[in-house]
Amino acid sequence: MQSYSVAVLGATGMVGQRFIQLLAEHPYFELTCVAASERSAGKRYASAAKWYLEGEIPEAVRNLEVVPVKPEKVRADIVFSALPGGVAREVEPAFAEAGFIVASNASAYRMESDVPLLIPEVNPEHLDMIEVQQERRGWDGAIITNPNCSTIMATLTFKPIYDAFGIEEAVVATMQALSGAGYSGVPGMAIVDNLIPYIANEEEKVETEALKILGNFNGSEIEPASFKISASCNRVAVLDGHTEAIFLRTSEEATPEDIKRVLRSFRAKPQELRLPTAPPQPVIVREEQDRPQPRLDRNAGNGMAVTVGRVREDRIFGIKYVVLGHNTLRGAAGASVLNAELLVKTRKL
Ligand SMILES: NC(=O)c1ccc[n+]([C@@H]2O[C@H](COP(=O)([O-])OP(=O)(O)OC[C@H]3O[C@@H](n4cnc5c(N)ncnc54)[C@H](OP(=O)(O)O)[C@@H]3O)[C@@H](O)[C@H]2O)c1
Repeated sequence: MQSYSVAVLGATGMVGQRFIQLLAEHPYFELTCVAASERSAGKRYASAAKWYLEGEIPEAVRNLEVVPVKPEKVRADIVFSALPGGVAREVEPAFAEAGFIVASNASAYRMESDVPLLIPEVNPEHLDMIEVQQERRGWDGAIITNPNCSTIMATLTFKPIYDAFGIEEAVVATMQALSGAGYSGVPGMAIVDNLIPYIANEEEKVETEALKILGNFNGSEIEPASFKISASCNRVAVLDGHTEAIFLRTSEEATPEDIKRVLRSFRAKPQELRLPTAPPQPVIVREEQDRPQPRLDRNAGNGMAVTVGRVREDRIFGIKYVVLGHNTLRGAAGASVLNAELLVKTRKL
């Protein structure tokens, strides 16, 4: 496999560090450039970044000089963006215009009609939107995005259920980890012995992104899926791993055993192509009454599988279950890396 040089924008942050960890081991992406704010630019990575993750900063990255997030300062075939939304809105188009492929975690362009919002197991065909984007915007490069972390966990379970039985409506109540807010996002004093029943803009993302992802790309635009999603999002005192209680009304009747069967047998393009970051089984179904749990299940499939448990009948909606996934791996950096793997495997760069 040909190798590709890659850069991380926002490399010092919570998601940026996950990128660095994943890319250090990657078989064909070679991390050659790290970029962050003017506060960090000019410093060696090890002194600019307060490293939060288990293990040491990868040796090849420690001494890289952090550059500002400017296209003329970055050399790479692909840039991964872990920038805050507002910064991404300004910076990502400048990179795409300068000819870079931008694989972004940020929310800024997810819902634009010509930007793929990808989960490689769910809608790999939406990559075809790149041509529409390049033509419409006159870019040589492109922006591809991954969804909000909570959307990814829920949609990985919706896909096989939607294909087999249809979905009429869904209710999602999330219990989201602290790392989802970035290192300084939630003060310790606010969350220990507590939960916070509000995450800014999160419910809107969960209620809309899955419909774009499950929609049909007709060659020029997406016709979104037409069911309704209602979300209620909570921050809880867990470091990593978002848990979601999901209630579903399916179009055709389905028993809990039917749901478990389609979730367990779900395999898709990334598994078929054996993409390096793809888990062998994207949705793991457990039978224990008290699973999934963040500490026990967030690293399933190297943090790239989601774990479902407590699949049971619901007396109002028909079906309910709990899903859990690692928010900075499957929900962020791992999701972008998998998007880029799909891109280079299925198209010429
Ligand atoms: N955390 C998650 O689970 C998760 C999941 C899905 C998506 N996301 C999205 O991923 C992005 C990053 O989240 P995070 O949690 O990693 O945030 P974070 O820990 O706050 O990190 C932000 C990064 O962006 C850089 N940055 C901040 N302001 C900048 C500016 N004006 N110009 C250039 N660089 C700037 C920071 O560099 P300095 O160190 O130099 O300040 C740092 O590298 C956000 O868009 C977030 O919504 C996060």
